[in-house]
Amino acid sequence: MQRIYLDYNASAPIDPAVAAAMRPFLEDHFGNPSSEHWAAAGAKAALEEARGQVAALLGANNDEIVFTSGGSEANNLALKGVASALAARGDHIITSAVEHPAIIGPCRSLQQLGFAVSVVPVDRFGRIDPDDVRQAITSRTILISIMHANNEVGTTQPIAEVARIARERGIPLHTDAAQSVGKMATDVNALAVDLLTIAGHKVYAPKGIGALYVRRATPLEPLIHGAGHEGGRRAGTESALLAVGLGKACELARDLAPMDGICALRDRFWQTLQAEFGERVVCNGHPDHRLPNTLNVSFAGHIGAEVLARLEGVAASTGSACHTGHVEPSPVLKAMGVAPEVGMGAIRFSLGRGTTEEEVDTVADRLAHILAPAA
Ligand SMILES: Cc1ncc(COP(=O)(O)O)c(C=O)c1O
Repeated sequence: MQRIYLDYNASAPIDPAVAAAMRPFLEDHFGNPSSEHWAAAGAKAALEEARGQVAALLGANNDEIVFTSGGSEANNLALKGVASALAARGDHIITSAVEHPAIIGPCRSLQQLGFAVSVVPVDRFGRIDPDDVRQAITSRTILISIMHANNEVGTTQPIAEVARIARERGIPLHTDAAQSVGKMATDVNALAVDLLTIAGHKVYAPKGIGALYVRRATPLEPLIHGAGHEGGRRAGTESALLAVGLGKACELARDLAPMDGICALRDRFWQTLQAEFGERVVCNGHPDHRLPNTLNVSFAGHIGAEVLARLEGVAASTGSACHTGHVEPSPVLKAMGVAPEVGMGAIRFSLGRGTTEEEVDTVADRLAHILAPAA
């Protein structure tokens, strides 16, 4: 059985160049980066070089990068950290209807602490209207958090437009860029965001490392208190090993040229499916404002999980969940107003550096075979 991996939005393998950069830190450079002696020097220098590589990808300053354990922690730090720091100023947060659970969860937790959360809707392509953000702002609003690109359907949001609105009102703007970093431009000054989340394992770095970009002068209370690591924003001895991995991955991610090839494969895949299935296949997500590697499709009359089960050896994700025997479309597809019979059929294929033409052609062929109408 041929194994085909089309689930890069879930996680990407560690790039060989990333693994090579990390290797010396498994065996040598064991010192604590905060120590002052010879055993720390290598780790400390590498940690700061990695911080610079992450900052360079984002067009940020080195001191604006806080290493975290991943995207979820970065999102929690952004939301709870700003809310806590600005609690005396207000108690209202604005977010969107298609956020990842790593945003929804901290929002719920803040609601339990008395914060109010407004959720702006999305259109049928999964896009917010910046004007809805403007309308949701009150004198109590202390944070806006809108994801850059959606993990399920790939739709990207008009972050720079939201930023203009946020800046007019002096409200910090956070964007969860876990899916967009390395797949499209994520310059923090072009986007004009104050906080931005990176998840290492989505950019060919290991799991267990991520980062939060925090613009200078943005108020932020740490989640983890302790010693003064990471500029007092996240206590705990840093892992030079993991930071080096993220740094190298970010250095590689500065070259977006390989995304053109990945996008071409994604489009080839979609065109083949369309030629085969015609109106029996629909694409969920925005036709243009979308991650170049993501194709979320529904096959009319089929349940996504069942189709995937029959596509043995193919790793992809379904956009529906089975609750006590009842299949439901994902909250993202529901927020987009996708009809239940279409949403239940959703499958997310996400391509990456390792994807080949032969692989997408094989999957398209097998889908045609599996889903051929009964004679
Ligand atoms: C949009 C988005 N945000 C946050 C996360 C969480 O990142 P991590 O798995 O590094 O905690 C993910 C991971 O799926 C994601 O897709």
